[in-house]
Amino acid sequence: MDKPLWLNPHFLPLLLTIFFFPPFPLQPSLLTALQSDYVRHPPRKVVVTQHHRSKSDPQQVHTSLAGKDYMRISWITDDKDVPSEVEYGTVSGRYNAMAVGDHTSYHYFFYSSGKIHHVNIGPLEPSTTYYYRCGGHGPEFSFKTPPQTFPIEFVVAGDLGQTEWTASTLSHVDSKDYDVFILPGDLSYADTQQPLWDSFGRLVEPYASRRPWMVTEGNHEMEMFPIIYPHGFKAYNARWLMPYQQSGSTSNLYYSFNAAGSHVIMLGSYTDFDGDSAQYKWLESDLAKVDRKKTPWVVVVLHAPWHSTNLAHKGEGESMRKAMEDLLYKARVDVVFSGHVHAYERFTRIYDNKADPCGPVYITIGDGGNREGLALVFENPTSELSVYREPSFGHGRLRVVNESRAHWSWHRNNDSDSFVADEVWLQSLTTTESCWLYPGNTDGSMVNKDEL
Ligand SMILES: *[C@@H]1O[C@H](CO)[C@@H](O)[C@H](O)[C@H]1NC(C)=O
Ligand SMILES: *[C@@H]1O[C@H](CO)[C@@H](O)[C@H](O)[C@H]1NC(C)=O
Ligand SMILES: [Fe+2]
Repeated sequence: MDKPLWLNPHFLPLLLTIFFFPPFPLQPSLLTALQSDYVRHPPRKVVVTQHHRSKSDPQQVHTSLAGKDYMRISWITDDKDVPSEVEYGTVSGRYNAMAVGDHTSYHYFFYSSGKIHHVNIGPLEPSTTYYYRCGGHGPEFSFKTPPQTFPIEFVVAGDLGQTEWTASTLSHVDSKDYDVFILPGDLSYADTQQPLWDSFGRLVEPYASRRPWMVTEGNHEMEMFPIIYPHGFKAYNARWLMPYQQSGSTSNLYYSFNAAGSHVIMLGSYTDFDGDSAQYKWLESDLAKVDRKKTPWVVVVLHAPWHSTNLAHKGEGESMRKAMEDLLYKARVDVVFSGHVHAYERFTRIYDNKADPCGPVYITIGDGGNREGLALVFENPTSELSVYREPSFGHGRLRVVNESRAHWSWHRNNDSDSFVADEVWLQSLTTTESCWLYPGNTDGSMVNKDEL
């Protein structure tokens, strides 16, 4: 880092990145449609999280759900001889089980990653704290498995980045217990500067090593480069391996998982989604397999919103909406979360751009706190479909109480405090009889109203 900037191997990609994605877009000076008196702050500076452990110690430890009763432990070592094994048990310091997994690594221009380990452990008991050690070295970590039955609490925050605002969002998330973290895309904002992926991994480790982090990709994960890296997602796929194989998908860019009566589908806004695409066919078969008696709640997560009244990224999710909205509607998906727009916005239930009691509730929550700052300008007048909108950083919590009710709350980062600025009770469409042809018949084989 003390070399001149132009001798740094990351300089070329950095230069190109700045050209394509200016890091600090101009903030509009005239702000309209602000809903509360809270004074909005500008972006805060990037926090670079250093590596303080030894070369064989694990760093960037994170966990994810990896199929029924299994969790995946992912971490990185500088030392390539460290084995991909995890020792674990339910008592601190006493590891009575061990699992061996895989490792990978990747190059990006002049950058070479450390050894990236992925180990699946299980079968595990629900609602249980496990203590674990990675590769036989370094500190002990622990996580809690999600419950088997309701209630379950999901935290949702997109467009996280790694600034002082990110740190504030994460500390608010952590101040109250939860079960699973859902990230609707845009993780590190490394934007080709690979050491920032490592820094991000270290920033989130205290949280992601303790609760499963389920992520999908945003545009900042692409890191495509003409001819050299035409397919993109090199760092993302190597580092943030998700349970796509366990959910019958052939791509890490879209998958699904179950957690306590909830089926969560993580879609990819930056891979093919048209009617003849692999993602579309996978989504169709995944939805057909949902058994609403076992998972009454069905939630979809994607990056570029299908509905937004913000001026930022207007219309970018429209072709995906046109391709996939019918599938979600016919399957009676309860909620669709998205990110991308750096603000919070909650819509009513929508189908075909009209309010519809059997359509999903749409929520944009791209407010994790990245370096680009907030998307401050909303359309005026607003849409009658938009219920609440506000450009502030924060996070959301979906507490699914039982098969019929869930409480959604949005927690604004009010400087160092967290403040609930929006909340609503949701009823699952499973228990909304008017949305089904045969009331009470809500298993996977049902026929619904609009198929008549
Ligand atoms: C579900 O939870 C809500 C809110 O706590 C409660 O009013 C309702 O009676 C519960 N329903 C069932 C079926 O347990
Ligand atoms: C938000 O923070 C400001 C200080 O920046 C404080 O004056 C205000 O009372 C806080 N509001 C809430 C609702 O916490
Ligand atoms: Fe984005």
